[in-house]
Amino acid sequence: MQADVLALFEAARVSHANAVERRLRALLDDRARDGEVARPERLMQAMRHGVLNGGKRLRPFLLMESAALFGIEGEAPLRVAAALECVHCYSLIHDDLPAMDDDDLRRGQPTVHKAFDEATAILAGDSLLTYAFDIVASEETELPATARVALVAALARAAGLGGMAGGQALDLQAERERPDEAGILMLQAMKTGALIRYACEAGAIVGGASVDERTRLAEFGSAVGLAFQLADDLLDMTSDAATLGKATGKDAAAGKATLPGLHGVDWTRRQLDGLVAQAQDLLAPFGDTASMLRAAAQFIARRDH
Ligand code: IPE
Ligand code: IPE
Ligand code: MG
Ligand code: MG
Ligand code: MG
Repeated sequence: MQADVLALFEAARVSHANAVERRLRALLDDRARDGEVARPERLMQAMRHGVLNGGKRLRPFLLMESAALFGIEGEAPLRVAAALECVHCYSLIHDDLPAMDDDDLRRGQPTVHKAFDEATAILAGDSLLTYAFDIVASEETELPATARVALVAALARAAGLGGMAGGQALDLQAERERPDEAGILMLQAMKTGALIRYACEAGAIVGGASVDERTRLAEFGSAVGLAFQLADDLLDMTSDAATLGKATGKDAAAGKATLPGLHGVDWTRRQLDGLVAQAQDLLAPFGDTASMLRAAAQFIARRDH
């Protein structure tokens, strides 16, 4: 990547992450909103612990930059991005539970069930998932009702049984049943790919894209999503907890089926290069306006944390 593009990408990444952080903090304050009876203090603390703890905010970045392709910035993409991050953080809180990956460390801090308790972690996850739909559907998300419905419907599909949650079910099953390569690719497209694909597709919906443009961005999201999980699995094999802020060596220890586990480090790096090229090719019709998304694809594949 050229040095100037890299510098612009870093600046955009930090600026989007800060904007999302501020918005999440406001959305997760203690004040009960219209129609809510009260916001229980301990539950809110647990939700904030699971959200406002220094994530990379890559899904919001992809969403906001996808919307920016169509000249849309500001309130609408920011709120949908914050909602998507709530779904992602819920998925992490539940992923870390003893019944799932049983992890004590996340983003360099105790996981939510360690800092609070298991029941609170489960409810914090439930509340974040539900709140995400509230945020998108609200009239404060300044979009026509048809666009909000499309965003809600696509988010439900991405997060649910045929997307992230379904993928998590297959992922746990894969510890016992050793799926083949096609099986691993499917579970990854679901557990991680679906929310990343949504990030890009949602940006297209927010931006009022044509059907072709929306499909193209969704395909870009799928390629980046696969690269994202390959990089995550590679880092689990090659990095350390101090760098990642979460335990490493967990996949092999759990007997988890991953592609880097099956094919090794060099194969994975070649595969990642191929996915970046494929993702970037999909952006060709958008020309220079897509330079931040091109840089994001590269960052995601080559990241060290
Ligand atoms: C980690 O996601 C979980 C996966 C889906 C692989 P991220 O690497 O985006 O985690 P944060 O949000 O930056 O902590
Ligand atoms: C998690 O995959 C995917 C989710 C849907 C949360 P991992 O279990 O590999 O994520 P980490 O390594 O714990 O972040
Ligand atoms: Mg997991
Ligand atoms: Mg995990
Ligand atoms: Mg992992």
